[in-house]
Amino acid sequence: MMIILMGAPGVGKGTQAKVLCAKLKLRHISTGESLRQAIKENTSLGSQVRQYVESGRLVPDQLITRMVIERLSRNDLKSGCILDGFPRNTQQARDLDKFLSAKITSAYMVIYLDASEKTLIQRLSGRRLCKKCQAVFHLVNMPPKKDMRCDFCGAELYQRPDDKEETIKNRLRIYQEQTAPVIDYYAKQNRLLHIDANRELKPVLKECLKLLKGRGNHIRLPKSDLSPARAGSGSRKICLKFCPLPPNGGVPPTAAKGIFFLKERDDFYKVRL
Ligand code: AP5
Repeated sequence: MMIILMGAPGVGKGTQAKVLCAKLKLRHISTGESLRQAIKENTSLGSQVRQYVESGRLVPDQLITRMVIERLSRNDLKSGCILDGFPRNTQQARDLDKFLSAKITSAYMVIYLDASEKTLIQRLSGRRLCKKCQAVFHLVNMPPKKDMRCDFCGAELYQRPDDKEETIKNRLRIYQEQTAPVIDYYAKQNRLLHIDANRELKPVLKECLKLLKGRGNHIRLPKSDLSPARAGSGSRKICLKFCPLPPNGGVPPTAAKGIFFLKERDDFYKVRL
């Protein structure tokens, strides 16, 4: 299962992704972190993307899509992943769909974290990162215990170059122009879970988990994500609760191929994950 975390800069994607991945045993794929790592290590990719990242502009589609597809093609994602920071425009979203449609592990949903501009600016301008382990802090919301030192490894904290006031404005403008349309793209596919992210960390996390575990909430998976044998017309409302056994009991014969079972009330659906 893949979850795409979407939302404006500073909404809390990285923070929520880390906790969700730990709780749900998923891999965290963050395009922003991978790019910053490449810049830090001065790799060939790093030197190509530095100017874009530090000024808050989007890295060219060709470079970023290749990086993401290479990462998604590795075979360490069997238990699933959270994709944080991609796609960032409709072209990237289409390229991702094209890549996924050729794979058996193609089901995914999209969590859209939504917050006001005032919240975003407050979060971005107060964010500080650990120079060594990249842990994220906030001067007001999540201050480090010791003055400007990481709680986990003791290294110094720093401010991202793209978290300066002028660059923040640029990033928010680019988000509105290029990334916001991707929300509509996924809404039309019935994949979107909309979450009010103006709230503190815990309520946001709780709602993400609630939606994902299907406790009283449901998402619609498009017909294309259902196995042909079960797919009816249009999309179906499905409780996202994994069922270890198929309806007739026994071990799911197709589990090895990445096909699992979802349960909705007393009915079961086979879903390609
Ligand atoms: P990226 O790193 O992805 O930046 P972003 O999307 O702008 O997101 P941020 O990392 O700024 O914010 P976040 O939502 O993760 O917030 P966080 O959890 O840290 O990308 C950086 C750059 O790389 C881009 O500008 C671009 O150049 C390039 N790039 C990346 N992907 C690309 C792509 N697909 N195409 C092209 N270019 C690409 O939280 C923010 C702060 O708020 C923290 O201090 C945190 O402690 C605090 N906080 C979080 N949640 C809460 C809460 N609920 N309550 C209180 N405080 C909170």
